[in-house]
Amino acid sequence: MRGQAPRRRWTAFAAAALTGALAVSGCGGNDGKGGNDASEVEVFSWWTGPGEADGLAAMKADFEKKNPGTKFTNAAIAGGSGTQAQAVLASRLQNRKPPDSFQGHAGAELLDYIKAGQIEPLDSFYDENKLKAAYPQQLIEQITYQGKIYSVPVNIHRSNVLWYNPGILKDAGIAGPPATIADFITALKAVKDKTKKVPLSLGAQWTADHLLENVLLGDLGTDAYNALWKPGADWSAPAVGKALADYAEIMKYTTSEAASTDWQGAAKAVVDGKAAFNIMGDWAYGYFTGTAPNGLGKKLDTDFKYAASPGTDGTYMWLSDSFTLPKGAPHRGGALAWLKEASSKEGQDLFNPKKGSIPARKDADKTLYKGYLEYAFNEWNKPGVKLAGSFWHGVNASKKQHTDIDTAVGLFLQNKDVGKLQAALASAAKNSGQ
Ligand code: GAL
Repeated sequence: MRGQAPRRRWTAFAAAALTGALAVSGCGGNDGKGGNDASEVEVFSWWTGPGEADGLAAMKADFEKKNPGTKFTNAAIAGGSGTQAQAVLASRLQNRKPPDSFQGHAGAELLDYIKAGQIEPLDSFYDENKLKAAYPQQLIEQITYQGKIYSVPVNIHRSNVLWYNPGILKDAGIAGPPATIADFITALKAVKDKTKKVPLSLGAQWTADHLLENVLLGDLGTDAYNALWKPGADWSAPAVGKALADYAEIMKYTTSEAASTDWQGAAKAVVDGKAAFNIMGDWAYGYFTGTAPNGLGKKLDTDFKYAASPGTDGTYMWLSDSFTLPKGAPHRGGALAWLKEASSKEGQDLFNPKKGSIPARKDADKTLYKGYLEYAFNEWNKPGVKLAGSFWHGVNASKKQHTDIDTAVGLFLQNKDVGKLQAALASAAKNSGQ
């Protein structure tokens, strides 16, 4: 027994020395292999399509100019709203093979990573770069847990946008974009009866989830929609049942064969004159207006128009792409340099006009945001704007609830049973773990 004392003392000394070394290298909390290595950075996202990939490329070019010694690896994995990427990311995090930085939505989605101990707090990074004052307070709150800040928001997207083809509306005798869910259903019927076009284009299953959040907001209104994401929310209420019945009705005017395409195929159908309406986030704007051959090179007001999705005018259903510092990031120095780029005014003003989003920072150059983006910029910054969080894009549903809702929607697409959908959504809320 006596022989153990020195060993214990040595162990304690070694541990103290190691802690000191980690503190000096700024490595605190990771596995010690990466240190402050800035020779590389692997950035993980799902931005592979026109618009989004162009935005990322613009920020990457600026990053490379400012960090000539750091090799940038773009680890983007295709699949709208990150359906594929998030599965790959989960297994990498599980196996402790994190990228140097990954894209995670501000809000409940980020909270899952925090609670699982997968990402590091960034408070000293925020202090060094004077970032706290650069972001709106309500956004800082969505990335803070137990007093610590965990990510770097690069943009604000709007989920509740109705994109439409003005020529098809005219042919169908529709005076303008429908302002309520009831008017929307009437307009969809008019397109079906009077033209040979698709009334509402839809893509992969997640676009049906995206549509669901828009119909819930449009039917219930902002306060009741927001209340759905609070503990003890009443998903069995008749008003939710009515919204789901409307959702079922709207789904009758979509195309089931579109299920194999992602959001791009569904959005493109509108600007190509094949579909009258599409409800999609404003990343569609980056895709529509981006320069050919990458983007579609289409013109606002001629090839397409936009409005708030039916029943949601005056409310910004928002989401925010943010970048993180995973625990054990192999090139922590590279990751911090990337976070600096993503948080900078220059980086955000290069990225967002191409991405189809507005900057998360408050001091962006407003003149760069034209057409739809000028509208988005003004709406977001309007005093007293009403906010709703996009559940599909990470703001107010935990990953578990997100998956459970997707499963419920998938079953509904097959059985079309509104009662079962409502019961499944109620149980998803009860078991959300929030
Ligand atoms: C969202 C993401 C956007 C865009 C969109 C379509 O979840 O926040 O940046 O990528 O998916 O893939």
